[in-house]
Formats: sequence, structure tokens, C-alpha cells
Amino acid sequence: MSLKDCYNFDDFRKLAKRNLPAPIFHYIDGGSDDESTLKRNTESFSKCDLVPSILTSVGEPDMTTEVFGQKIKMPLFLSPTAMQRLYHHDGDKASARAAEKIGTIYSMSTMATTSIEEISNVSGGPKMFQLYIHKDKGLTDNLIDRCKRSGFKAMCLTVDTVVAGNRERDHRWGFTTPPKLTLKSLLSFATHPMWSINYLTHEKFQLANVSHFTKKGSSIAKGVMEYINEQYDPKMNWQDAEYCIKRWGGPFAIKGVMSVEDAKRAVEIGASAIMLSNHGGRQLDGSRSPFDQLPAIAEAVGGKLEIILDGGIRRGTHVLKALSLGATACSFGKGYLFALGAGGQKGVEALLQRMHDEIRRDMILLGCKTIKDLKKTNIAYR
Ligand code: LAC
Repeated sequence: MSLKDCYNFDDFRKLAKRNLPAPIFHYIDGGSDDESTLKRNTESFSKCDLVPSILTSVGEPDMTTEVFGQKIKMPLFLSPTAMQRLYHHDGDKASARAAEKIGTIYSMSTMATTSIEEISNVSGGPKMFQLYIHKDKGLTDNLIDRCKRSGFKAMCLTVDTVVAGNRERDHRWGFTTPPKLTLKSLLSFATHPMWSINYLTHEKFQLANVSHFTKKGSSIAKGVMEYINEQYDPKMNWQDAEYCIKRWGGPFAIKGVMSVEDAKRAVEIGASAIMLSNHGGRQLDGSRSPFDQLPAIAEAVGGKLEIILDGGIRRGTHVLKALSLGATACSFGKGYLFALGAGGQKGVEALLQRMHDEIRRDMILLGCKTIKDLKKTNIAYR
């Protein structure tokens, strides 16, 4: 199996599973507790169907849209994800370059393995930075100011990870950052020699944005859940969010909003966007899917800020359903991480191109010329 055989999410996932040592594959693939929210995120798109309009002389659809003050060529972009250096030795650089090539946003996590400055040197494309608030608030200012200096145009604050979700696959496989050889994981690293050689012969693994501030997670191997529980501020509140918005002074999203009340509050404190997200089903299991929550949130705050649907996206039609119900754009994480594991920058490019082509083809089939033509009337519930 090679990239040429990858037509969809499942194919990229299969190839990534083949390439990556098990603890790493399961860190991407897994959710919390029973993983019911993880499954639900995608299943919820099947609750409704698309209703096409015919004979609209649709021609070539215009898929461009604007989000975070940046024009993008398709209404889907890369969610921030941690530690990409583990999935391919080019890590974030590969994702950022692929996103730039396809014309969409690359997002960088606080937990990235490439630094803010390095990424701004390799990609002039649209970029967003994702903040985690650590107990030491000095780090927040440091990250915001570095992003300003490095040409990042947008920022989001993740609010759903004040403690780590219970990711049982990480316990089972002994996943740590940086990876640690344990009896449990030894076999898995030994049976993936290409990954292991690439890991050892390329740039050293580090949490590049925070390593100046803590060695944990960069050179002292820690479970990710342990890292989160030790380092993140569990008392984070609306004042902290407002502080970040003001200090940043540009397009800013609260990521992890799920309730109508919180969406309204995000408008009040001056956020320009919300990301409807349950962290890919990795945090509160049994919580609602972003897609199920979208209509109520769009009704309450649509037009007042941008609404990004993050979670469960596998197909172009998922994006079109979300946009029809009021999302400004969508973002996804697992999909492009599998593509990164499957084939580095080429893998991410191949997946993004496939998603681009699906969205384009399905817009034509729906009879929609522009993103604005995607409306509630395109949707029927079962
Ligand atoms: C995760 C965090 C680190 O989901 O974003 O693993």
C-alpha cells in the first residue's frame, strides 16, 4: 500500500497504522473513556441528508472563503495538533507547507515540536497559533508576543483541556513525550525500523515552544495526560480568555465552545470566532458532538462571530452539511495526522487535494456556486 492507494480517510489511516509504532498510532487514533464521543462526532453527520438543487448553471464553483481575516481556497483547514514530529520527521513543517500549497490555514499547537519562528521561516501561508494556558502565566505573554513578531495572523485559546481526558489507549501502550522505550513498546519500535531510524537520525524531538520554560515533555519523558495535569492551569476563566484576546489584538477564536450560553459569552468578550469542538472526542466522553450543537449555536450567534466546526470531519459532504447549517468553515485533526504519518508533506497534500476535490465535486452536485449558496434548505432531517 502506498499514497497512490489512499482515496479517503480510512485509507490514510490504514497506511499510517502500518508506518507508525503502535503507541504513536493509538495516540492519534484514540479518544477518552469508551470513545463514544469520538464515534459520535462522525456519526452525527448521518442524522441529516443533503438536498440538491438542479439546473442552476453551476459551472465552476467558487470555494474561497474568509476566516480569521485570511482568504482560504477551501472551507476546511488544519486544526492545531500536538507533537507532529512523532508522525513524520518533518513534523509541522510538512503540514504547514502542504496547507500553504493547497491554500488553507495551518494551525500550530503550543505543544508543537517546531518553533513559532521556524515555521514562519518555512511558510508564508495563512497560519493560526493555538494557546494552552500554563500555570506560569509568563509563558502565555511570551507565546502571544512571539506570534506577533513572527507573522501569525490569528490565534485560538483551547478551553476544554483544563485536565486531561482519560485516554486508556495511551496507558495501555505506554505513550510518552518524548517516546520512551519500555518493555511494552519495544516490539512496536523494533517492528517499525524505518520510523525508528528516521526518528533517531533527524532533528531532536522537543516541545519547541515551551522547552525554554520546562524540560518536561521535551527531554524528560512524561505521559501526555501527566504533562497536561501538571502544567496547564485548571483555574483558567473568562477573564484569562479576555486578557489573551486583548493582548493579541487580532482575529481570535475560543476553541472548545459547546453551549449556546458560552458562545454568547465569547461574543461579549470580543472573540472574533468560536471553534465548536470537543477536542476530537479526547476529553469529556459522553459529550455532545459539535455538529449536533451547530444549529442552536448558529441561531444564537451566527453573524456575530465566525463559527468553526471542528470534529468528526471525514468527507467533503461533512463540510458541506456544516456550512449549510451555519458554520463559516470546518477544521480537522486526525485526518491530516494520518496523512502525515502515511507520507509526510506529500501525504498531507494528497489528503487535502482529495478533500478539496470532494468539496468541489459535491458543491457542483448540490447546485451551489459559492459558499454563500450553502443554506439550511440544502438539509433535510431523517
Ligand atoms: C491532545 C492534546 C495535547 O489532545 O491536544 O493530546
